[in-house]
Amino acid sequence: MHIERCTNTVELEERGRYCLNDASPILPAMRSSVAEPRSWIAQMIRPLADGGVGTRATFLTKTFAVTGDGRDAILYISALGLYRAFINGKRVGDDQLTPGWTSYHDRLSYQTYPVGHLLKAGDNVIEIWLGDGWYRSQMGWKRSHIFNTWGSEIGAIAEIVSGSGTLVATDPSWKSGLLPILENGIYFGERYDAREETLIADQGSAPVDGFSKKTLVPHEINGVKELPALKPVMEFNDAEGRTIYDFGQNSGGYVAFTVSGERAAKITIEHSEILDKHGVFDNANMRSAAARIEYTLKGGGEETYKPTFTFFGFRYVRVAVEGKAKIVSIVSIPTTSAIAPRATFSSASPLVNRLVENTVWSQRANFIEVPTDCPQRDERFGWTGDAQVFAPTACYLTDSHAILTKWLRDVMADQRPDGAIAHVSPDPSRNHEDAFPRFYGSTGWGDAICIVPWVLYEHYGDRAILEETLPAMVRWNDYEWSISNGPIVRPPPRWSDRGFTFGDWLQPKEDFLKSFPTMGDDAAATIYLYISSALIARVAETLGDLALAKRMQARAQQVKKAFQHEFITPSGRLVYDDQSSYALAFMHDLIPPEHVEAAKNYFKATIARAQGRIGTGFIGTPALLPALVKIGEPELAAAVFLQEEVPGWLYQVKRGATTIWERWDAIKADGSIFDPQMNSYNHYAYGAVCQWLFEGLAGFRPDPNIPGFRNIIFEPVIVPELSPVAATHDSDAGRIEASWTVDDDRVTYRVHIPDSSRGTLVLSPRYSDIRIDDQTIGWSGGAEATRSLLGPGVHTVTFQIDRPEG
Ligand code: BGC
Repeated sequence: MHIERCTNTVELEERGRYCLNDASPILPAMRSSVAEPRSWIAQMIRPLADGGVGTRATFLTKTFAVTGDGRDAILYISALGLYRAFINGKRVGDDQLTPGWTSYHDRLSYQTYPVGHLLKAGDNVIEIWLGDGWYRSQMGWKRSHIFNTWGSEIGAIAEIVSGSGTLVATDPSWKSGLLPILENGIYFGERYDAREETLIADQGSAPVDGFSKKTLVPHEINGVKELPALKPVMEFNDAEGRTIYDFGQNSGGYVAFTVSGERAAKITIEHSEILDKHGVFDNANMRSAAARIEYTLKGGGEETYKPTFTFFGFRYVRVAVEGKAKIVSIVSIPTTSAIAPRATFSSASPLVNRLVENTVWSQRANFIEVPTDCPQRDERFGWTGDAQVFAPTACYLTDSHAILTKWLRDVMADQRPDGAIAHVSPDPSRNHEDAFPRFYGSTGWGDAICIVPWVLYEHYGDRAILEETLPAMVRWNDYEWSISNGPIVRPPPRWSDRGFTFGDWLQPKEDFLKSFPTMGDDAAATIYLYISSALIARVAETLGDLALAKRMQARAQQVKKAFQHEFITPSGRLVYDDQSSYALAFMHDLIPPEHVEAAKNYFKATIARAQGRIGTGFIGTPALLPALVKIGEPELAAAVFLQEEVPGWLYQVKRGATTIWERWDAIKADGSIFDPQMNSYNHYAYGAVCQWLFEGLAGFRPDPNIPGFRNIIFEPVIVPELSPVAATHDSDAGRIEASWTVDDDRVTYRVHIPDSSRGTLVLSPRYSDIRIDDQTIGWSGGAEATRSLLGPGVHTVTFQIDRPEG
């Protein structure tokens, strides 16, 4: 056991100084992320059977000889479009939606599979199925939808290599033919005719002109995997005789079914996330995403099917049958790239526990290859703002290092010459400016390029990602500076104008008779200019680029001063006087000391005015509770968090949500839907509150000065009505545990620190009579937090909470 009081609290914040008895340095954890290039013999070829986007899916095939046993054979494979490979009729691997989704013109992932077990001596057959995928099926909503986003020709590149050389490689000698998949698309779904299952390779192939093998990179993440299937929890027939199945859980994936019936009978399956207030299947929010499956039976026994080149966001399906056929069984198969959970959280509140579970499910559905906004409608894009606010939560819940690193590389690839970051990455608008004019450059969204690498550094100790992204961060920040006006940013209101910002997107304002004030775009944008400048200074300092650090610090100071002048009145009120403004300003220390007391009161007043409800949108929300704790109002933070009315986190849980909604008021108290078209029931952005559940309630967080959880800061916020609270996180350094109970205002806080880590316990000055592992720790008194250092292992800390009066 190892405990020591640290007398100088500032010391701990300074990198490199560490007041542990044991003087051995604790090295930051490192994760490496360097891709090895490989040289290809194979050519990218296209099937001549292909009729273009929206037509029947095709395959490429070749028979090849294996002379030895080929046991060490490896398949390297990628595609334009989506592929699925088979050797001698057996599927290669179990990854879905390969080769994945990247900014294809710059980076195309390839997969590597050991295939020796699928080969035999003599003749072998390889078949590569191809679908339209993200590459060329519809991207974007109706008014602005794009087909052939990255190209009109699909194709595959593949080679099997064994110790004795290349066994087979794609070249124009390969044959092609048609698949039973009559039509397929990411939003569209799939049409399949089982009568066409006999494959005939009666056409040839040709090289894809202009394809550069230099774009090929090893897949940087695990493939998309299937999770255990969910059985229906309920089924019923609607007035038209269609059957609705409820799988009890909203998710991102597809159904698998067994059907029996006569030849040419047809099953149509539609997907939805909700039933409306009358219990009617409602998929209006899919908008122009058809999100359908049509399956035509071959007849003669039980047939099983699940789609190959698509996925859906759904909890319910509606099944219609034409002709004589019946569903024998049907399950929902959730899919995700966020496979292994890395955290647990529990409290005395079933609603809070379900909120965490809902966030886990929203992460699963929105971590399908790319961190996306939603998995169901005609977007499913890698929206930068959503990823930015959710990244810390994502890193607690699963190992998100690889997917966020991969995505950041796409964000960099899509960065515009003037430094603007695309609103979404991979960015379909980059070559289709006509469909989405100026779809880049929003503050709060583009700042993902600065914030996400820092989150990866904090969580995984990855310095390399800071080095890799720093030039892009600076270019982004220079862009932000260029849209500012010395240095206040005044964004124009139109999406297509330079400097447009989403501000605090979806900030609620209209739940009462008179609408609430919301944050102006100028304040939101200027705060983000400050956040990025200050963060880049920190990154530069971490990497030893002191000149850059100085330049960015100076810029940050300039913005801060201008912000204070422009957006804080002489009485200490923020001009927009809304929750997001105060939350962000307090979190980023933008309020000058002389105004702090007044601003705190104004901040509290915004909450009182909203009757204790949330008044923040996408960017204000993650800051709200930590800011309230920071100003010394943990009870208010707890009250806002735990209130169950709309807008509020628990409201949607109470209404039966199984994933996180895009809007606080997606389904209103009377059961009506806010905006049936512009609504998603699976958007993880507001699930970002889980970061606070781990860092605030359970009280552990990484220390950016000794990242990768090599030093863990424990600073719990005790909310007695949630007792007992318990959380774990499997960090790279090992398992972290923290739990607390409250008995008669005495808290017992237990933590476990992994062997290679240390801890810093920080207890609010409102907690007194502190004992750590049965040793009394002097109370620092006054307004100072009590700080203690903890060694690896289990520690029991007890202390008294002081409940505020009233
Ligand atoms: C997306 C969001 C995104 C936003 C930009 C929406 O359509 O679904 O999640 O961040 O647009 O404001």
